[in-house]
Amino acid sequence: MAKKLLKREHFTSKFGILAAAAGSAIGLGNVWKFPYITGVYGGGAFLLFYLFFIIAIGLPVMLSEFLIGRKAQKNAFGSFKELAPGSKWYIIGIMGVAAAYVILAFYSTVAAWIFEYVYLAFTNAFEAKSAAEINTLFNGFISQTYKPIIWQLLFLVLTALIVIAGVKKGIEKYSKILMPLLLVLIIALDIRAITLPGAKEGLEFLFKPDFSKISPEGILSALGHAFFSLSLGMGTLVTYGSYIKKQDNLVNTAIQVSAADTIIALLAGIAIFPAVFAFNIDPTEGEGLIFITLPGIFNQIPGGYIFSLIFFILLAIAALTSAISILEVVVAFLSEELKFSRKKATILATSTVAVFGILCTLSFGELSDFKILGVNVFNLFDNTASNYLLPLGGLLITVFIGWVYKKSESNKEITNDGSIKVRYLPYFRILVKFFAPIAIAIVFAHGLGLIKF
Ligand code: TRP
Repeated sequence: MAKKLLKREHFTSKFGILAAAAGSAIGLGNVWKFPYITGVYGGGAFLLFYLFFIIAIGLPVMLSEFLIGRKAQKNAFGSFKELAPGSKWYIIGIMGVAAAYVILAFYSTVAAWIFEYVYLAFTNAFEAKSAAEINTLFNGFISQTYKPIIWQLLFLVLTALIVIAGVKKGIEKYSKILMPLLLVLIIALDIRAITLPGAKEGLEFLFKPDFSKISPEGILSALGHAFFSLSLGMGTLVTYGSYIKKQDNLVNTAIQVSAADTIIALLAGIAIFPAVFAFNIDPTEGEGLIFITLPGIFNQIPGGYIFSLIFFILLAIAALTSAISILEVVVAFLSEELKFSRKKATILATSTVAVFGILCTLSFGELSDFKILGVNVFNLFDNTASNYLLPLGGLLITVFIGWVYKKSESNKEITNDGSIKVRYLPYFRILVKFFAPIAIAIVFAHGLGLIKF
């Protein structure tokens, strides 16, 4: 045991693990996807479901992932083999590797759009443009063939380089300083957005639930997004859990990461929706929502040029810190289970992801007529991963911790061998054993139309 601990790199400080886990959680999911799907699924009611799923399902799954990883000191696949030898639970790890592939493919497409926005902000291309003009600019860009792909490949190469550099040096250093800065900029955007004429309508859209607008698909998406935004359901946080020190408090870490993630998403929503209504943008616009809305807000801020430039750079970095955590799942699997060198594993994983990623990017241009189950490749990947693979992974993880893994062992890990008192332990048991798996199963069945309320 001692030897294993020495061999494995650990985060050097409490803030290190927080920053790294929050760096994984906070990304395009918060700033791009949360506003976009909240708009698509009708606002306030969707938000309520989302928040409920974060607390009642996300938190217990996160704690379960942390505890599995820290106990086993391995990647997701190896952790299940270690904790349940001779069983098939390692399938969660394999599903996770598959989910990581799918997610990184479409994630890098959106990251490419952000890179283009860094460039456009730098060249002052948004100045004095109306929402309609920015819409044209955005759609013109994403339907091109080469430029988005080049940005996407650059993003993937950067991700790979950081993963090759290793845990501490790679992840911890950057997240610590930059994420708080992103928070400050989003708050500045909020202040501008809520003082725009017409802002009230946007705030009402976001915070006043209208349950007539919620559909089974909306509820499934709220659940899927709770998983996506918190980086759950595919072993990312199992792997990160294995880097957490034995004396750190897992429950507090899980609560802090979830709170930080949720706050950033809410603040992004508070910036976007007032502006959406003030500029007469359609809230159901879809993937382009923030790309059409944000430049307009910056145009209304004194010093908007420099603000927008810094903002898009920070958002690109937030996307990077998330992407490294996704790639890390694949790399840890290839290097620890299949004995590839870290470098080889990273190169292999990144280059194969790039192939799928390019398909996602082209699905807004060259391949836009190519539809599977009625959606383009990009949406197919996003839906499959977020709404099915991740919640399914989460369901299996809760069943594992609630029903299979010994309660005394899991309690020992959560309480650091009894050295800390954890008040929430009984709630955690109920949520992880009964509520979370049943709720996920119901939302699935409901989303697939198998049951109706
Ligand atoms: N949570 C990140 C975001 O909101 C994306 C992400 C990183 C992720 N790692 C993950 C999603 C693991 C699912 C699983 O942008």
